[in-house]
Amino acid sequence: MDLKGQIALVTGGSRGIGRAVVLTLGRLGAEVMINYRENQSAAEEALKQLLTERGSGQLYPFDVAVEGQVEEAVKKIVDRHKKIDILVNNAGITSDNLLVRLKSEDWDRVIGVNLRGTIHCTKAVCRGMIRERYGRIVNLTSVVGQRGNAGQSAYAASKAGIIGFTKAMARELATRGITVNAVAPGFIDTEMTAKLSSKIQEEFLHSVPLGRFGTCEDVAEAVSFLVGPGAGYITGQVINVNGGLYM
Ligand SMILES: NC(=O)c1ccc[n+]([C@@H]2O[C@H](COP(=O)([O-])OP(=O)(O)OC[C@H]3O[C@@H](n4cnc5c(N)ncnc54)[C@H](O)[C@@H]3O)[C@@H](O)[C@H]2O)c1
Repeated sequence: MDLKGQIALVTGGSRGIGRAVVLTLGRLGAEVMINYRENQSAAEEALKQLLTERGSGQLYPFDVAVEGQVEEAVKKIVDRHKKIDILVNNAGITSDNLLVRLKSEDWDRVIGVNLRGTIHCTKAVCRGMIRERYGRIVNLTSVVGQRGNAGQSAYAASKAGIIGFTKAMARELATRGITVNAVAPGFIDTEMTAKLSSKIQEEFLHSVPLGRFGTCEDVAEAVSFLVGPGAGYITGQVINVNGGLYM
């Protein structure tokens, strides 16, 4: 697969799944715009790795939850590169607590970053894709948005919202040559899941038919397939990368 000449924007690209997506798309020849919010040293390290592997790209710090920041950054990218071909809405946060204990600020922040952030970036980027009559959008959802999880109501709602949004956008943008799909990871070994207690991690592992947690690369492979030429007839789908945890 060759993504040479394509411009990609990956939100939350400084670590975890986002970083693996950045490096995979870079290896395939895309020029990758790495978004991050506050972890500058991790973002610089991801860029350094990308350049070491003979990829190319730049850093774009902004908060996906703030529409003005998203629009400004997208304008800068388009001014410089003329277009964005690939958008990977990866930035995401959790705030885990039983609903009765979850503060409304925490609820709003999770919806603000995960769901509204995905909407802000899609809205800002798809205008140019519509002009170009080409685009590939991949949204990171989660198995938790498909089957729920006690103590993750805000996260589950945000990720289920992303699935509905993905299908609506797939229908809205189909005639413009733009595909919109979602990738739903199960339990992936990252800093996000490292925060879970070892008891919860063990419970998850027992319910994974393939008997292991996923890697960031497992998810990046599915994302790179969806943005490549072989996936031109796939839109509005949720691709599960979960070791069989949810079927
Ligand atoms: N790790 C898993 O098991 C798992 C499972 C299912 C879905 N996911 C989803 O995959 C995506 C990546 O997860 P991860 O495990 O790599 O998480 P992570 O916490 O390691 O990385 C998330 C990235 O998003 C960035 N980010 C957070 N808020 C932001 C904001 N407001 N603006 C810009 N960037 C922001 C963070 O700085 C970080 O770089 C998330 O959307 C997550 O919900 C992860």
